Amino acid sequence: MTERFSCVGTYWVQTFGCQMNDRDSEILAGLLEEMGYAPASDPETADIILFNTCCVRGNAENRLYGHLGNLKPLKEGNPKKILGVCGCMVQQPSELEKLEKDYPYVDLLFGTHNVHRLPQLLNLVLGGQRTIEVWDDKQAGIQEELPTRRTDPFRALVTVMYGCNNFCSYCIVPHVRGRERSRKPADILNEINQLASEGIKEVTLLGQNVNSYGKDLNPTFTFAELIREINGVEGIERIRFTTSHPKDLSDALIQAMAELPKVCEHLHLPVQSGSDRILDAMNRRYKREHYLELVKKLRKAVPDISMTTDIIVGFPGETEDDFQDTMDLVEQVKYDGAFTFAYSPRNGTKAAEFLDQVPHEVRMERLYRLNDLVNRLAHAANDDLVGTIQEVMVEGPSPKDPSIYTSRTRGNKQVLFRPVEEHGDLNGKLIFLKIIESRTWTLTGEWIDKTAHEVTHEQAHTDAPTISRH
Ligand code: SAH
Ligand code: SF4
Ligand code: F3S
Repeated sequence: MTERFSCVGTYWVQTFGCQMNDRDSEILAGLLEEMGYAPASDPETADIILFNTCCVRGNAENRLYGHLGNLKPLKEGNPKKILGVCGCMVQQPSELEKLEKDYPYVDLLFGTHNVHRLPQLLNLVLGGQRTIEVWDDKQAGIQEELPTRRTDPFRALVTVMYGCNNFCSYCIVPHVRGRERSRKPADILNEINQLASEGIKEVTLLGQNVNSYGKDLNPTFTFAELIREINGVEGIERIRFTTSHPKDLSDALIQAMAELPKVCEHLHLPVQSGSDRILDAMNRRYKREHYLELVKKLRKAVPDISMTTDIIVGFPGETEDDFQDTMDLVEQVKYDGAFTFAYSPRNGTKAAEFLDQVPHEVRMERLYRLNDLVNRLAHAANDDLVGTIQEVMVEGPSPKDPSIYTSRTRGNKQVLFRPVEEHGDLNGKLIFLKIIESRTWTLTGEWIDKTAHEVTHEQAHTDAPTISRH
Protein backbone atom coordinates (compact mmCIF):
# COMPACT_ATOMS: atom_id res chain seq x y z
CA MET A 1 0.00 0.00 0.00
CA THR A 2 1.27 3.44 -0.83
CA GLU A 3 0.83 6.01 1.87
CA ARG A 4 -1.49 8.90 1.01
CA PHE A 5 -0.66 12.41 2.14
CA SER A 6 -3.16 15.19 2.54
CA CYS A 7 -3.16 17.64 -0.40
CA VAL A 8 0.05 19.67 -0.42
CA GLY A 9 -0.70 21.61 -3.58
CA THR A 10 -1.94 21.31 -7.15
CA TYR A 11 -0.34 20.32 -10.44
CA TRP A 12 -0.86 20.75 -14.18
CA VAL A 13 0.84 18.41 -16.65
CA GLN A 14 0.66 19.40 -20.30
CA THR A 15 1.66 16.83 -22.90
CA PHE A 16 3.06 17.37 -26.39
CA GLY A 17 3.86 14.63 -28.90
CA CYS A 18 2.92 10.99 -29.18
CA GLN A 19 1.21 8.35 -27.04
CA MET A 20 4.57 7.48 -25.45
CA ASN A 21 4.48 10.92 -23.90
CA ASP A 22 0.81 10.54 -22.99
CA ARG A 23 1.75 7.40 -21.10
CA ASP A 24 4.72 9.09 -19.38
CA SER A 25 2.42 11.93 -18.33
CA GLU A 26 0.07 9.44 -16.67
CA ILE A 27 3.04 8.27 -14.60
CA LEU A 28 4.12 11.85 -13.81
CA ALA A 29 0.59 12.60 -12.59
CA GLY A 30 0.57 9.35 -10.60
CA LEU A 31 3.87 10.23 -8.90
CA LEU A 32 2.64 13.74 -8.10
CA GLU A 33 -0.59 12.40 -6.60
CA GLU A 34 1.36 9.96 -4.49
CA MET A 35 3.32 12.93 -3.17
CA GLY A 36 0.03 14.55 -2.16
CA TYR A 37 -0.61 16.89 -5.09
CA ALA A 38 -4.06 17.17 -6.65
CA PRO A 39 -4.90 18.08 -10.26
CA ALA A 40 -5.37 21.83 -10.85
CA SER A 41 -8.23 23.13 -12.95
CA ASP A 42 -5.90 25.32 -15.05
CA PRO A 43 -2.18 26.18 -15.30
CA GLU A 44 -2.75 29.67 -13.82
CA THR A 45 -3.70 28.28 -10.40
CA ALA A 46 -1.37 25.25 -10.36
CA ASP A 47 1.52 25.12 -7.87
CA ILE A 48 3.49 22.88 -10.20
CA ILE A 49 3.39 23.04 -13.99
CA LEU A 50 5.13 20.35 -16.03
CA PHE A 51 5.52 20.45 -19.79
CA ASN A 52 6.20 17.00 -21.24
CA THR A 53 7.78 17.90 -24.57
CA CYS A 54 8.22 16.50 -28.09
CA CYS A 55 10.97 17.32 -30.60
CA VAL A 56 9.94 15.18 -33.57
CA ARG A 57 9.33 18.27 -35.72
CA GLY A 58 10.22 21.95 -35.41
CA ASN A 59 6.64 23.06 -34.82
CA ALA A 60 6.28 20.83 -31.73
CA GLU A 61 9.28 22.63 -30.25
CA ASN A 62 8.04 26.06 -31.25
CA ARG A 63 4.73 25.43 -29.51
CA LEU A 64 6.59 24.61 -26.31
CA TYR A 65 8.64 27.80 -26.49
CA GLY A 66 5.42 29.75 -27.07
CA HIS A 67 3.86 28.23 -23.94
CA LEU A 68 6.99 28.89 -21.87
CA GLY A 69 7.02 32.52 -22.97
CA ASN A 70 3.36 32.89 -21.93
CA LEU A 71 4.13 31.51 -18.48
CA LYS A 72 6.96 33.91 -17.72
CA PRO A 73 4.72 36.67 -16.24
CA LEU A 74 2.82 34.06 -14.21
CA LYS A 75 6.03 32.73 -12.73
CA GLU A 76 7.34 36.26 -12.06
CA GLY A 77 4.07 37.14 -10.30
CA ASN A 78 4.37 34.03 -8.10
CA PRO A 79 7.97 32.86 -7.62
CA LYS A 80 6.75 29.92 -5.52
CA LYS A 81 5.13 28.33 -8.54
CA ILE A 82 7.31 25.48 -9.83
CA LEU A 83 7.84 25.25 -13.55
CA GLY A 84 9.32 22.05 -15.01
CA VAL A 85 10.12 20.88 -18.53
CA CYS A 86 10.68 17.20 -19.29
CA GLY A 87 10.39 14.77 -22.18
CA CYS A 88 12.12 14.41 -25.51
CA MET A 89 13.34 18.00 -25.99
CA VAL A 90 15.32 17.84 -22.75
CA GLN A 91 17.01 14.69 -24.00
CA GLN A 92 18.41 16.65 -26.97
CA PRO A 93 21.65 18.45 -26.02
CA SER A 94 21.07 21.57 -28.19
CA GLU A 95 17.56 22.13 -26.78
CA LEU A 96 18.64 21.39 -23.23
CA GLU A 97 21.31 24.07 -23.50
CA LYS A 98 18.77 26.56 -24.83
CA LEU A 99 16.25 25.75 -22.09
CA GLU A 100 18.92 25.96 -19.42
CA LYS A 101 20.39 29.29 -20.58
CA ASP A 102 17.50 31.20 -22.15
CA TYR A 103 14.76 30.14 -19.73
CA PRO A 104 16.23 30.71 -16.27
CA TYR A 105 12.74 30.75 -14.75
CA VAL A 106 12.33 27.03 -15.49
CA ASP A 107 13.11 25.37 -12.13
CA LEU A 108 13.28 21.74 -13.19
CA LEU A 109 14.56 19.99 -16.32
CA PHE A 110 14.60 16.20 -16.70
CA GLY A 111 14.74 13.70 -19.55
CA THR A 112 12.61 10.82 -20.77
CA HIS A 113 14.75 8.35 -18.79
CA ASN A 114 14.21 10.24 -15.52
CA VAL A 115 10.41 10.18 -15.27
CA HIS A 116 10.51 7.84 -12.25
CA ARG A 117 12.89 10.24 -10.49
CA LEU A 118 10.33 13.07 -10.28
CA PRO A 119 9.78 12.84 -6.47
CA GLN A 120 13.51 13.13 -5.69
CA LEU A 121 13.99 15.92 -8.23
CA LEU A 122 10.98 17.84 -6.99
CA ASN A 123 12.26 17.66 -3.43
CA LEU A 124 15.50 19.31 -4.56
CA VAL A 125 13.50 22.09 -6.24
CA LEU A 126 11.35 22.51 -3.11
CA GLY A 127 14.64 22.92 -1.21
CA GLY A 128 15.37 25.93 -3.41
CA GLN A 129 17.70 24.34 -5.94
CA ARG A 130 17.32 24.63 -9.69
CA THR A 131 17.50 20.97 -10.77
CA ILE A 132 18.60 19.37 -14.04
CA GLU A 133 18.90 15.61 -14.53
CA VAL A 134 19.25 13.78 -17.83
CA TRP A 135 20.15 10.09 -17.87
CA ASP A 136 20.69 7.75 -20.76
CA ASP A 137 18.69 4.60 -21.49
CA LYS A 138 21.18 2.29 -19.74
CA GLN A 139 21.16 4.24 -16.51
CA ALA A 140 17.37 4.13 -16.39
CA GLY A 141 16.72 0.49 -17.32
CA ILE A 142 13.04 -0.45 -17.25
CA GLN A 143 11.05 0.80 -14.30
CA GLU A 144 8.05 -1.32 -13.32
CA GLU A 145 5.31 -0.70 -10.75
CA LEU A 146 5.23 3.08 -11.02
CA PRO A 147 2.11 4.85 -9.81
CA THR A 148 -0.14 6.08 -12.57
CA ARG A 149 -3.17 8.25 -13.08
CA ARG A 150 -5.29 7.06 -15.97
CA THR A 151 -8.11 9.32 -17.07
CA ASP A 152 -10.14 6.96 -19.25
CA PRO A 153 -12.02 4.31 -17.25
CA PHE A 154 -12.35 1.88 -20.17
CA ARG A 155 -9.28 2.30 -22.36
CA ALA A 156 -5.62 2.17 -21.42
CA LEU A 157 -2.22 2.66 -23.02
CA VAL A 158 0.27 -0.09 -22.21
CA THR A 159 3.91 0.35 -23.17
CA VAL A 160 5.42 -2.92 -24.35
CA MET A 161 8.79 -1.58 -25.40
CA TYR A 162 10.87 1.53 -25.16
CA GLY A 163 13.27 3.15 -27.61
CA CYS A 164 14.04 2.52 -31.27
CA ASN A 165 17.00 1.01 -33.14
CA ASN A 166 15.98 1.98 -36.65
CA PHE A 167 17.61 5.35 -37.14
CA CYS A 168 15.47 6.49 -40.04
CA SER A 169 17.65 9.29 -41.36
CA TYR A 170 15.14 12.09 -40.64
CA CYS A 171 14.12 10.97 -37.15
CA ILE A 172 15.22 12.23 -33.75
CA VAL A 173 13.35 9.58 -31.74
CA PRO A 174 16.21 7.01 -31.46
CA HIS A 175 18.47 9.84 -30.30
CA VAL A 176 16.16 10.92 -27.49
CA ARG A 177 14.50 7.62 -26.53
CA GLY A 178 17.55 5.34 -26.67
CA ARG A 179 17.83 1.72 -27.83
CA GLU A 180 15.03 -0.84 -27.95
CA ARG A 181 14.19 -2.39 -24.60
CA SER A 182 11.25 -4.78 -24.23
CA ARG A 183 9.26 -5.23 -21.06
CA LYS A 184 8.98 -8.84 -19.90
CA PRO A 185 5.80 -10.59 -21.08
CA ALA A 186 4.91 -11.45 -17.47
CA ASP A 187 5.10 -7.77 -16.42
CA ILE A 188 2.92 -6.72 -19.35
CA LEU A 189 0.37 -9.44 -18.64
CA ASN A 190 0.26 -8.59 -14.94
CA GLU A 191 -0.43 -4.99 -15.81
CA ILE A 192 -3.17 -5.90 -18.28
CA ASN A 193 -4.80 -8.35 -15.85
CA GLN A 194 -4.78 -5.61 -13.25
CA LEU A 195 -6.28 -3.13 -15.73
CA ALA A 196 -9.00 -5.62 -16.66
CA SER A 197 -9.85 -6.06 -12.99
CA GLU A 198 -10.27 -2.26 -12.77
CA GLY A 199 -12.76 -2.23 -15.66
CA ILE A 200 -10.47 -1.52 -18.62
CA LYS A 201 -11.84 -3.09 -21.81
CA GLU A 202 -9.51 -1.83 -24.49
CA VAL A 203 -5.72 -1.76 -24.44
CA THR A 204 -3.44 -0.02 -26.92
CA LEU A 205 0.03 -1.55 -26.88
CA LEU A 206 2.74 1.01 -27.44
CA GLY A 207 6.22 0.91 -28.91
CA GLN A 208 8.04 2.87 -31.64
CA ASN A 209 8.30 -0.39 -33.53
CA VAL A 210 6.20 -3.08 -31.84
CA ASN A 211 7.15 -5.62 -34.49
CA SER A 212 10.62 -5.91 -33.01
CA TYR A 213 9.19 -6.55 -29.53
CA GLY A 214 11.00 -9.26 -27.62
CA LYS A 215 14.05 -9.63 -29.84
CA ASP A 216 16.17 -8.35 -26.93
CA LEU A 217 14.62 -10.70 -24.37
CA ASN A 218 16.21 -13.91 -23.19
CA PRO A 219 14.55 -16.19 -24.21
CA THR A 220 13.15 -14.17 -27.12
CA PHE A 221 9.41 -13.68 -27.38
CA THR A 222 7.59 -12.34 -30.43
CA PHE A 223 4.94 -9.64 -30.63
CA ALA A 224 2.57 -12.16 -32.22
CA GLU A 225 3.04 -14.42 -29.18
CA LEU A 226 2.46 -11.48 -26.87
CA ILE A 227 -0.88 -10.52 -28.42
CA ARG A 228 -1.97 -14.15 -28.30
CA GLU A 229 -1.40 -14.08 -24.54
CA ILE A 230 -3.20 -10.76 -24.16
CA ASN A 231 -6.12 -12.09 -26.18
CA GLY A 232 -6.64 -14.57 -23.35
CA VAL A 233 -7.04 -11.94 -20.63
CA GLU A 234 -10.60 -12.05 -19.38
CA GLY A 235 -12.37 -8.68 -19.40
CA ILE A 236 -10.25 -7.21 -22.19
CA GLU A 237 -12.44 -6.90 -25.28
CA ARG A 238 -10.32 -4.94 -27.72
CA ILE A 239 -6.60 -4.94 -28.47
CA ARG A 240 -4.89 -2.26 -30.56
CA PHE A 241 -1.22 -1.56 -31.10
CA THR A 242 1.04 1.09 -32.56
CA THR A 243 3.44 1.55 -34.33
CA SER A 244 4.36 -1.16 -36.84
CA HIS A 245 7.38 -0.91 -39.11
CA PRO A 246 6.82 -2.43 -42.58
CA LYS A 247 10.26 -4.06 -42.63
CA ASP A 248 9.44 -6.13 -39.52
CA LEU A 249 5.73 -6.92 -39.97
CA SER A 250 5.75 -10.71 -39.79
CA ASP A 251 3.41 -13.28 -41.32
CA ALA A 252 2.91 -14.58 -37.78
CA LEU A 253 1.52 -11.19 -36.75
CA ILE A 254 -0.79 -11.01 -39.78
CA GLN A 255 -1.98 -14.51 -38.91
CA ALA A 256 -2.54 -13.50 -35.29
CA MET A 257 -4.53 -10.45 -36.39
CA ALA A 258 -6.69 -12.66 -38.57
CA GLU A 259 -7.31 -15.25 -35.87
CA LEU A 260 -7.56 -13.42 -32.59
CA PRO A 261 -11.06 -12.10 -32.00
CA LYS A 262 -10.02 -9.25 -29.71
CA VAL A 263 -7.42 -7.74 -32.03
CA CYS A 264 -9.12 -4.87 -33.85
CA GLU A 265 -9.17 -4.78 -37.64
CA HIS A 266 -7.01 -1.71 -37.94
CA LEU A 267 -3.34 -1.29 -38.73
CA HIS A 268 -1.30 1.88 -38.63
CA LEU A 269 1.55 1.12 -41.00
CA PRO A 270 3.70 4.18 -41.72
CA VAL A 271 4.95 4.19 -45.32
CA GLN A 272 6.69 7.63 -45.25
CA SER A 273 7.17 7.73 -49.05
CA GLY A 274 6.13 5.87 -52.20
CA SER A 275 9.48 6.38 -53.93
CA ASP A 276 12.19 3.72 -53.61
CA ARG A 277 14.91 6.35 -54.01
CA ILE A 278 13.52 8.37 -51.09
CA LEU A 279 12.80 5.29 -48.95
CA ASP A 280 16.44 4.37 -49.39
CA ALA A 281 17.66 7.86 -48.42
CA MET A 282 15.32 7.69 -45.42
CA ASN A 283 16.98 4.41 -44.37
CA ARG A 284 13.58 2.70 -44.15
CA ARG A 285 15.01 -0.58 -45.46
CA TYR A 286 12.00 -1.71 -47.52
CA LYS A 287 10.83 -1.00 -51.03
CA ARG A 288 7.53 0.30 -52.30
CA GLU A 289 6.66 -3.14 -53.74
CA HIS A 290 7.29 -4.83 -50.40
CA TYR A 291 4.90 -2.40 -48.73
CA LEU A 292 2.20 -2.95 -51.36
CA GLU A 293 2.65 -6.71 -50.99
CA LEU A 294 2.12 -6.40 -47.24
CA VAL A 295 -1.09 -4.46 -47.81
CA LYS A 296 -2.31 -7.18 -50.15
CA LYS A 297 -1.51 -9.90 -47.62
CA LEU A 298 -3.21 -7.97 -44.83
CA ARG A 299 -6.36 -7.38 -46.87
CA LYS A 300 -6.50 -11.05 -47.77
CA ALA A 301 -6.05 -12.21 -44.18
CA VAL A 302 -8.24 -9.52 -42.57
CA PRO A 303 -10.74 -8.52 -45.26
CA ASP A 304 -12.28 -5.46 -43.59
CA ILE A 305 -9.03 -4.08 -42.20
CA SER A 306 -8.79 -0.32 -42.03
CA MET A 307 -5.36 1.02 -42.90
CA THR A 308 -3.75 4.28 -41.79
CA THR A 309 -0.24 5.61 -42.31
CA ASP A 310 2.32 8.38 -41.79
CA ILE A 311 3.79 10.22 -44.77
CA ILE A 312 6.57 12.80 -45.00
CA VAL A 313 6.69 15.12 -48.02
CA GLY A 314 9.62 17.29 -49.07
CA PHE A 315 12.33 14.97 -47.73
CA PRO A 316 15.76 16.17 -49.02
CA GLY A 317 16.14 15.33 -52.70
CA GLU A 318 12.43 14.58 -53.25
CA THR A 319 11.54 15.51 -56.85
CA GLU A 320 8.06 16.00 -58.27
CA ASP A 321 8.35 12.46 -59.71
CA ASP A 322 9.16 11.02 -56.26
CA PHE A 323 6.20 12.90 -54.84
CA GLN A 324 3.96 11.51 -57.61
CA ASP A 325 5.10 8.01 -56.58
CA THR A 326 3.82 8.78 -53.08
CA MET A 327 0.51 10.08 -54.44
CA ASP A 328 0.19 6.98 -56.59
CA LEU A 329 0.87 4.63 -53.67
CA VAL A 330 -1.71 6.45 -51.52
CA GLU A 331 -4.25 6.12 -54.32
CA GLN A 332 -3.49 2.39 -54.65
CA VAL A 333 -3.72 1.60 -50.94
CA LYS A 334 -6.82 3.78 -50.47
CA TYR A 335 -5.98 4.58 -46.86
CA ASP A 336 -8.70 5.19 -44.32
CA GLY A 337 -6.60 8.03 -42.97
CA ALA A 338 -3.06 9.38 -42.83
CA PHE A 339 -0.93 11.66 -40.71
CA THR A 340 0.94 13.80 -43.20
CA PHE A 341 3.97 15.92 -42.43
CA ALA A 342 6.22 18.41 -44.19
CA TYR A 343 9.80 17.29 -43.61
CA SER A 344 11.41 19.15 -40.71
CA PRO A 345 15.21 18.98 -40.36
CA ARG A 346 16.30 17.79 -36.90
CA ASN A 347 19.68 18.61 -35.41
CA GLY A 348 21.81 15.51 -35.01
CA THR A 349 20.05 13.42 -37.68
CA LYS A 350 21.69 12.37 -40.95
CA ALA A 351 19.07 13.92 -43.22
CA ALA A 352 19.60 17.37 -41.69
CA GLU A 353 23.09 17.28 -43.25
CA PHE A 354 21.85 16.37 -46.74
CA LEU A 355 22.61 19.16 -49.21
CA ASP A 356 19.50 18.96 -51.38
CA GLN A 357 16.90 20.30 -48.93
CA VAL A 358 13.56 21.04 -50.58
CA PRO A 359 12.38 24.69 -50.29
CA HIS A 360 9.72 25.34 -47.65
CA GLU A 361 7.08 26.50 -50.18
CA VAL A 362 7.51 23.31 -52.23
CA ARG A 363 7.14 21.14 -49.11
CA MET A 364 3.97 22.98 -48.11
CA GLU A 365 2.48 22.88 -51.58
CA ARG A 366 3.04 19.10 -51.76
CA LEU A 367 1.53 18.70 -48.32
CA TYR A 368 -1.67 20.47 -49.44
CA ARG A 369 -1.95 18.31 -52.54
CA LEU A 370 -1.40 15.14 -50.52
CA ASN A 371 -3.92 16.20 -47.87
CA ASP A 372 -6.57 16.75 -50.55
CA LEU A 373 -6.06 13.20 -51.76
CA VAL A 374 -5.97 11.71 -48.23
CA ASN A 375 -9.20 13.50 -47.31
CA ARG A 376 -10.93 12.37 -50.47
CA LEU A 377 -9.95 8.73 -49.85
CA ALA A 378 -10.91 8.89 -46.17
CA HIS A 379 -14.33 10.19 -47.13
CA ALA A 380 -14.74 7.47 -49.77
CA ALA A 381 -13.77 4.77 -47.23
CA ASN A 382 -16.37 6.17 -44.82
CA ASP A 383 -19.01 6.30 -47.57
CA ASP A 384 -18.48 2.56 -48.03
CA LEU A 385 -19.57 1.99 -44.44
CA VAL A 386 -22.97 3.66 -44.84
CA GLY A 387 -25.66 0.99 -44.42
CA THR A 388 -23.41 -1.43 -42.51
CA ILE A 389 -23.81 -2.42 -38.88
CA GLN A 390 -20.75 -1.74 -36.75
CA GLU A 391 -19.69 -2.83 -33.31
CA VAL A 392 -18.66 0.32 -31.46
CA MET A 393 -17.33 1.05 -28.01
CA VAL A 394 -19.12 4.02 -26.48
CA GLU A 395 -16.77 6.79 -25.35
CA GLY A 396 -19.33 9.12 -23.78
CA PRO A 397 -21.03 12.45 -24.48
CA SER A 398 -19.35 14.64 -27.07
CA PRO A 399 -17.65 17.65 -25.46
CA LYS A 400 -19.33 19.97 -27.99
CA ASP A 401 -22.87 18.65 -27.60
CA PRO A 402 -23.64 16.32 -24.67
CA SER A 403 -26.86 15.09 -26.31
CA ILE A 404 -24.65 13.37 -28.91
CA TYR A 405 -22.40 10.48 -27.89
CA THR A 406 -19.13 9.48 -29.50
CA SER A 407 -18.05 5.91 -30.06
CA ARG A 408 -15.40 4.03 -32.01
CA THR A 409 -15.55 1.12 -34.45
CA ARG A 410 -13.04 -1.71 -34.41
CA GLY A 411 -11.51 0.00 -37.45
CA ASN A 412 -10.89 3.04 -35.20
CA LYS A 413 -13.48 5.30 -36.82
CA GLN A 414 -15.44 7.72 -34.75
CA VAL A 415 -19.22 7.29 -34.86
CA LEU A 416 -21.59 9.88 -33.41
CA PHE A 417 -25.03 8.80 -32.27
CA ARG A 418 -27.94 10.07 -30.20
CA PRO A 419 -28.75 7.88 -27.19
CA VAL A 420 -32.18 7.89 -25.58
CA GLU A 421 -32.77 7.67 -21.87
CA GLU A 422 -33.87 4.05 -21.77
CA HIS A 423 -30.48 3.00 -23.13
CA GLY A 424 -29.14 3.64 -19.62
CA ASP A 425 -25.47 4.26 -18.94
CA LEU A 426 -23.70 3.36 -22.15
CA ASN A 427 -20.19 4.57 -21.33
CA GLY A 428 -17.60 1.91 -22.12
CA LYS A 429 -20.25 -0.48 -23.50
CA LEU A 430 -19.96 -2.37 -26.75
CA ILE A 431 -23.08 -1.81 -28.85
CA PHE A 432 -24.08 -2.09 -32.47
CA LEU A 433 -24.94 0.93 -34.60
CA LYS A 434 -26.21 1.16 -38.15
CA ILE A 435 -24.15 3.73 -40.06
CA ILE A 436 -26.45 6.26 -41.71
CA GLU A 437 -24.19 9.12 -42.73
CA SER A 438 -20.52 9.72 -43.48
CA ARG A 439 -18.20 12.71 -43.40
CA THR A 440 -14.42 12.86 -43.94
CA TRP A 441 -13.43 12.01 -40.37
CA THR A 442 -16.65 10.94 -38.64
CA LEU A 443 -19.66 8.74 -39.18
CA THR A 444 -23.18 9.05 -37.83
CA GLY A 445 -24.86 5.93 -36.50
CA GLU A 446 -28.32 4.91 -35.45
CA TRP A 447 -29.16 2.78 -32.48
CA ILE A 448 -30.31 -0.73 -33.36
CA ASP A 449 -32.25 -2.30 -30.61
CA LYS A 450 -29.93 -5.14 -29.71
CA THR A 451 -27.12 -5.72 -27.29
CA ALA A 452 -23.77 -6.97 -28.54
CA HIS A 453 -24.56 -10.33 -27.02
CA GLU A 454 -27.90 -10.59 -28.81
CA VAL A 455 -26.44 -9.71 -32.20
CA THR A 456 -23.56 -12.17 -31.90
CA HIS A 457 -25.94 -14.83 -30.68
CA GLU A 458 -28.45 -14.25 -33.46
CA GLN A 459 -25.73 -14.15 -36.03
CA ALA A 460 -24.61 -17.56 -34.98
CA HIS A 461 -28.08 -19.06 -34.98
CA THR A 462 -30.29 -17.20 -37.46
CA ASP A 463 -30.11 -15.09 -40.61
CA ALA A 464 -29.42 -11.84 -38.77
CA PRO A 465 -27.79 -9.03 -40.79
CA THR A 466 -24.11 -9.55 -41.44
CA ILE A 467 -21.94 -7.65 -39.06
CA SER A 468 -19.15 -5.86 -40.82
CA ARG A 469 -16.23 -5.57 -38.46
CA HIS A 470 -14.51 -2.49 -39.70
N1 SAH B 1 7.97 5.06 -34.58
C1 SAH B 1 6.97 5.51 -35.40
C2 SAH B 1 6.75 6.99 -35.53
C3 SAH B 1 7.51 7.97 -34.77
S1 SAH B 1 7.38 9.63 -35.18
C4 SAH B 1 7.24 4.93 -36.76
O1 SAH B 1 8.29 4.48 -37.06
O2 SAH B 1 6.34 4.97 -37.54
C5 SAH B 1 5.82 9.81 -35.99
C6 SAH B 1 5.93 10.26 -37.39
O3 SAH B 1 6.52 11.55 -37.46
C7 SAH B 1 6.80 9.42 -38.30
O4 SAH B 1 6.16 8.28 -38.74
C8 SAH B 1 7.11 10.37 -39.41
O5 SAH B 1 6.12 10.33 -40.43
C9 SAH B 1 7.05 11.73 -38.74
N2 SAH B 1 8.38 12.34 -38.61
C10 SAH B 1 9.43 11.88 -37.90
N3 SAH B 1 10.48 12.69 -38.04
C11 SAH B 1 10.10 13.69 -38.88
C12 SAH B 1 10.75 14.83 -39.43
N4 SAH B 1 12.03 15.10 -39.15
N5 SAH B 1 10.04 15.65 -40.24
C13 SAH B 1 8.74 15.38 -40.53
N6 SAH B 1 8.09 14.32 -40.05
C14 SAH B 1 8.75 13.48 -39.24
FE1 SF4 C 1 11.77 7.25 -35.96
FE2 SF4 C 1 12.08 5.38 -37.78
FE3 SF4 C 1 12.32 4.75 -35.20
FE4 SF4 C 1 9.94 5.35 -36.16
S1 SF4 C 1 11.19 3.59 -36.77
S2 SF4 C 1 10.82 6.13 -34.29
S3 SF4 C 1 10.40 6.91 -37.70
S4 SF4 C 1 13.65 6.08 -36.37
FE1 F3S D 1 7.77 13.31 -29.95
FE2 F3S D 1 9.23 11.97 -28.30
FE3 F3S D 1 7.03 10.91 -29.23
S1 F3S D 1 9.99 13.22 -29.94
S2 F3S D 1 6.81 11.84 -31.24
S3 F3S D 1 7.15 12.67 -27.94
S4 F3S D 1 8.91 9.85 -28.75
